[in-house]
Amino acid sequence: MTTTDSSRLILITGAAGVIGSYFAKNADKQKYKLRLMVHPSNPPEEVESLKLHGEVVEAELGQIETLMNACEGVDTILHLAGQPDPNARWDSLLKDNIEGTYNIFLTAKKSNVKRVIYASSIHAISGYPIDTQVKTTDPVKPGDLYGVTKCFGEALGCYMGEQEGLSTIAIRIGAFQPYSSLKDDSKTGLLLDAWLSQPDAVQLFEKCIDAPANLKFAIVHGLSNNTFKRMDVNSTRVLLGYDPQDNFYEAHENYEPLNIRKTLRLRNMKDPLQTSGLRDKSPE
Ligand SMILES: *[C@@H]1O[C@H](CO)[C@@H](O)[C@H](O)[C@H]1NC(C)=O
Ligand SMILES: *[C@@H]1O[C@H](CO)[C@@H](O)[C@H](O)[C@H]1NC(C)=O
Repeated sequence: MTTTDSSRLILITGAAGVIGSYFAKNADKQKYKLRLMVHPSNPPEEVESLKLHGEVVEAELGQIETLMNACEGVDTILHLAGQPDPNARWDSLLKDNIEGTYNIFLTAKKSNVKRVIYASSIHAISGYPIDTQVKTTDPVKPGDLYGVTKCFGEALGCYMGEQEGLSTIAIRIGAFQPYSSLKDDSKTGLLLDAWLSQPDAVQLFEKCIDAPANLKFAIVHGLSNNTFKRMDVNSTRVLLGYDPQDNFYEAHENYEPLNIRKTLRLRNMKDPLQTSGLRDKSPE
């Protein structure tokens, strides 16, 4: 499946962004050749440091000719570019996340790209009550307009994958944050049930790139192996072989001593004194 990948060209859009630049730096360069798409407004220092990791191209989501250029010879697109701010105004969401996403899929199809990996978001389901664990088979329930644009991207990906023959995987990305954020108390609420560590994200992106070519469309959940998960990652495991290594409750210095995973496991074991549950005889 992935043995002769040395010539596979991967286009990363939004390559100067937080997620894109981390992946550009850490992706397996033996397996993939990277083309890194940046916006003309990205600061030259950032663009310069990206050149260590691949070929840098300037393009704009609103300009199809520049996208055609960026997509030439590309096998797979990791589409990260767009408006990343959930509080952004509608005009920007419309332009970057709806029209821009349409333009990427359109150009991908015209350029014979084989797969688009679409960066959806946990915001596509953030309208569910906070104590609900969401499965990929549950209906979308965006908590804000940003989430609405992500639902659009998922729906477009479904259409492109199933009707237009452009394989698409939409990843609902949780809270992509470095280990250092675990020390920042203001981020705890964000990370508790939604953390996606940087190495787990790299693993997941690579699994999406390497997934079998006949996969037409899938939505997968992108979280680390947190003991409590806002989104179920079972189908990501089953479909892609994703095996997340990090767990908020083990990586965070305040929670690690509580040994929550072990404590919960013990709680769920049969009563060692046999005073409850099925037994042969009533106790004396
Ligand atoms: C995990 O996902 C697979 C494929 O979607 C499904 O068949 C299976 O029932 C799921 N298992 C659990 C425990 O949810
Ligand atoms: C992920 O979590 C499950 C359940 O808590 C645990 O059994 C498994 O060992 C964890 N995986 C890793 C790689 O730590």
